[in-house]
Amino acid sequence: MATVRLGDIAPDFEAETSQGKIKFHEWLGDSWGVLFSHPADFTPVCTTELGTVANYYPEFKKRNVKVIALSVDGVASHMEWIKDINETQNTTVNFPIIADEDKRIAELYDMIHPNASESFTVRSVFIIGPDKKIKLTLTYPASTGRNFDELLRVIDSLQLTAKYSVATPANWKDGDKVVISTSVKDEDIAAKFPKGYERIKPYLRMTPQPNK
Ligand code: BEZ
Repeated sequence: MATVRLGDIAPDFEAETSQGKIKFHEWLGDSWGVLFSHPADFTPVCTTELGTVANYYPEFKKRNVKVIALSVDGVASHMEWIKDINETQNTTVNFPIIADEDKRIAELYDMIHPNASESFTVRSVFIIGPDKKIKLTLTYPASTGRNFDELLRVIDSLQLTAKYSVATPANWKDGDKVVISTSVKDEDIAAKFPKGYERIKPYLRMTPQPNK
């Protein structure tokens, strides 16, 4: 059982999916990635989750993020289930679902938590940067559907902080003020953040979002 931690290179793999065979790193290319597992096909919460992701597809695309789901069911099952998702969630599932029947990838990413379930993957999420490094990990219980608005919010934060010397505060949303990184000296702020800043404490300096 492997543990995948922030900053690690996302383990590479080859897999059968609902859209054919893929090599994960090659499939990601220069994009950001979201890899998320769900317990099983033909289950209610999972059906709403995959439908939501399909409906959010333009939001992921706008952010240059490729999404890919995984469960331990096979391709034939995925294909039948996708018909149900499309019908019930009023969508078209246009991202691949990995068929991890031998649980090889689930093991690689530690998606099976035996004390929760011996046989099914938990609701794991991995956000992967264009450098193939893990930027976020999340684990949800089977009974709680994930909040995909929160994933988009984290992606916005990651993409912003990758470009500017800032971090995002609690409950930040795209367009809110951001925190100036503590590595930026006071004397360098004016040049770096021409929109101005507020110095609440020496370590807490806020500025309007630089790219807005
Ligand atoms: C669901 O997706 O509804 C689900 C899957 C496994 C266990 C409990 C709920």
